[in-house]
Order: sequence, then structure tokens, then C-alpha cells
Amino acid sequence: MRWPYHFDCLGGDHLSRQLALTVDRESRIPLAVQVRNSLRGLVENGTLWPGVRIPSSRQLALDLGVSRSVVVEAYEQLSAEGYVETRRGSGTTISARAQSDGGAVSMLVPPDPELAPDAMWDLRTGTSNVVDFPRQEWIRCVSAVVTDAGRQELSYSAPAGVPLTRRVLVGYLGRVRGVRSRPEDLMVTAGFAQGLALICKVLVDRGHTTLGVEDPGHPGEREFITSSGLRPVGIPVDEDGLRVDLLEESDVRAVLITPANQFPTGVRLSQARRERLIAWAREVDGYVLEDDFDSAFVQRGDQLPALQSLAPDRVVYAGSASKTLAPALRLGWLAAPSELMASIEHVRAGWDIGCSGLEQLAFARFIDTGALDRHQRKLRAEFHRRRQVVHEQTEAWLPGAHLISGDGGLQAFVQLPPHLDEAALVRAARSRSVLVRGGRFYTFTDTSRPPALVISYATVNCAGLAKSLTAIGSAYRQLGA
Ligand SMILES: Cc1ncc(COP(=O)(O)O)c(C=O)c1O
Repeated sequence: MRWPYHFDCLGGDHLSRQLALTVDRESRIPLAVQVRNSLRGLVENGTLWPGVRIPSSRQLALDLGVSRSVVVEAYEQLSAEGYVETRRGSGTTISARAQSDGGAVSMLVPPDPELAPDAMWDLRTGTSNVVDFPRQEWIRCVSAVVTDAGRQELSYSAPAGVPLTRRVLVGYLGRVRGVRSRPEDLMVTAGFAQGLALICKVLVDRGHTTLGVEDPGHPGEREFITSSGLRPVGIPVDEDGLRVDLLEESDVRAVLITPANQFPTGVRLSQARRERLIAWAREVDGYVLEDDFDSAFVQRGDQLPALQSLAPDRVVYAGSASKTLAPALRLGWLAAPSELMASIEHVRAGWDIGCSGLEQLAFARFIDTGALDRHQRKLRAEFHRRRQVVHEQTEAWLPGAHLISGDGGLQAFVQLPPHLDEAALVRAARSRSVLVRGGRFYTFTDTSRPPALVISYATVNCAGLAKSLTAIGSAYRQLGA
């Protein structure tokens, strides 16, 4: 929602609105002037934002215990000065003009060019297909849950999550990913991000100073890990996934990995490496954190079950609804070995009292009624079509470049000829209204990789992909590729 916003449909009841304002009856300053000055101050210091509705003069007079004419006079003065606007039927509102006049207000809303890029197509990773969010099904689930909620559902639940949701999730993850867990070893988190933060804290508490990460990998996660007090150590990735041989040579005792669909290359960790990775974890008495955030979109007929199914005592399985539904839900989950879960729960107890119980119940219902399976099937088919377009257009417009890895996920990793200037291609694409990232953006320390483009098709449909890849193709030719 962009600023300034209005919930016009809710505008009717301005009469009962409250405002944190007081007057000093002992003061020699007239009451109307006090009201005016206080309100003006609240607008100027950014407490009251443009678009905020304030009480009617009658209501504020009642609340302050002053005569209505005092507030009417103050409002008239503020209106003349451009601080408030009064419209028949919708009451009195802080004026949009107050933003620029006030100065301090606009400083609270720094311009965010990333939010409103002037480019036509955004092929950068980090987005989800929220356009197809199943609104009606979600509303049905929320509505049923709120209708049925009794005292217990409306009260606090266990910080680790609503028991019903944990049961449903354990059943669901066992069914679709072969995860072996019990409700008491599964925690509902505020997205994968909170799960990662919890694990990092527990590792720090247990004396870890480092965490292995895939290279290339998610730069945001590396920053996140650093701020949690651990040093990320890059472990290179090849066509079989994480180089477990190099992990063995490092001094880390825990590693974060996307085995089903490596982010961002899309390669799958081979069976041999999976087994070697588990053997490593046992050998160093360490842990593997399995980030399974987008496996729902992996098409391969030969898809392997979650790594966790090989060693529930060594692997922490983490998932998220951010890619399958919407990041705004902030819903994720962790299935951890029992002894680790005890520590995770201990840390969490000091952080918050869990996620929204009603939302967890709606999610459980969404899973239980089959809506999640239906929605994912639909998205999987759509992403498959989009990926095909990226594949065909890459062949047509980027000769010498090729898609690496299998058939799934939300982005394609396009390897470019070794002599090509990746940064120049990204810039040239930008000048043709296409936002895209090069492989370097994801690289940590392994600079041996050839140039690449990472093309996310999460938000751009087939027609848009065809146009944007044609534009990238023209930039590619211009660079003499
Ligand atoms: C590699 C990776 N893991 C997990 C996630 C999901 O994170 P969250 O559940 O915190 O939104 C993302 C989202 O972009 C991601 O890129």
C-alpha cells in the first residue's frame, strides 16, 4: 500500500475516533489556542500523518471536557493553515499538504527507488507470484476459523505454534516431502527468516563461530547470519550441488543448504553427496539446516525426498509459505531434532509468544481442505510454462548462453560465454527497461565461476518474459556476444 492511504470504505465512523491530546485548564493560554498548537505540533513532528482521520469537533470537545466552540475554532484555524481538511460525511483529516509543509513528515518516508522502479520488467529474485494469491480460498479459511474460534483459539497458544497446525503440518510435510517429525518437534515461525535467526542463536550459544553457506547463495542470508554473530563460510557449488569435499576441509560444524533446488543455480544435491553430507554431520557432531523454501515448484520426476528424511537427528528442516502463498503472511516452520528443539524453544520464549494463532489455524485449514495442494499445482504448471519461455528465448536471443540445471523453482540460471562482461550486460538490460541480476550478485568468495544471469520468473508472465528476453538479447548482441 503506497502512502498516503485511505480506507475509504471504513470512513463512516469518525465520530468515535480518539486522539491523544490534553489541555491545561490552569494555563493562561486560551483553550482553542492550546488545541490548535498541540495538533499542529503533532502534525509537524510527524506523529500525525497525512490521511489520518481525527475526531469530530463534537467528540473531541466531549473527550477534553471543553465546549464545542473551542474545538471548532481550533479546527477552523488549522484548516485555514492547511493542516487539516474537513469534508462532509467523512470528517476531519490531516491534510496531504501538511506533508510538504511540515518537512519532518516527509523525512519519515524516504524515497525507495527499489519499490517503484521505472523499469518495465523486474526479473530480480526475491519476489513471489502474489498476483495469483488465492484470495477467495484464503478468505474462506480465515472466515471459518474466526467464526468457529472459541476462548482457547482467541487466547495465547504455545510459542512453538498452535497444536492443530503443528499436527497438520507434520502430516503434510511427511506426505509431500517425506519429512519425519512429530508435532512436538515442529515449530511455526515468522517465515524462514525467523527460523534461521533462531538456529543461529542456538549455534552461537553452543559455541559455534561459523556457519557454512552455499557459494553462490543468498547475499541477504549471509548478512543475516553475520548479524546473528556467526561468520558465514562459503562452500562452492558445482553441478552436483554443494562440494561436500570442501566442506570437510573447512572448520565449520553446521551448514545452511538448499538441496532440492540450489539457490540460485537450481542444481540438485546428488544422492552420493547427500549421504556424504550426513556422514560429515555425524563425524563433526554438527547440523545441516535444510532450506526447502521453493521445492513445491520442482518439476523433476526424479525429485528426492527432503534431506531431513535421511537423518532427522542431524538435519533441521525449514520451510516457508512465502513462495507458495505470500511473504506477507510471515509463515514458516522448522522441524528439528528433539534436543535441538528444546534449545530453540528456550530462545524463542525470550523473543516472542509465537505467531498469530488465527492465521496458523487458517493455514491448517487451507492445507487440510486441499487448497494448498491445488494452488501449488496451478503455480507449478504456470512456472513450468514460464521456464519453457525463458529456455526458448535464451536459445533464440542469447546464442552461446545456456540454462544450467533442472526443471524447477522460480528462477533460471543462465550461464554466459566466459568472455562476456556480465556487469555491462546487466546495465544494458536496465537501459532497455529490464531489471535483472548477474551471477556476481550471489557470489560470496568463489570468483572462479563464469559470468551468468539469474532470471526470476516469479512475477513476469510468459508474454512479459518473451519481451524482456528479446530486450536482453538486443543488449547481448550490442556487447558483441
Ligand atoms: C533462499 C531463500 N530461502 C527462504 C526464503 C523465504 O524466506 P521467508 O520465509 O523469511 O520469507 C527466501 C525468500 O525469498 C529465499 O530466497
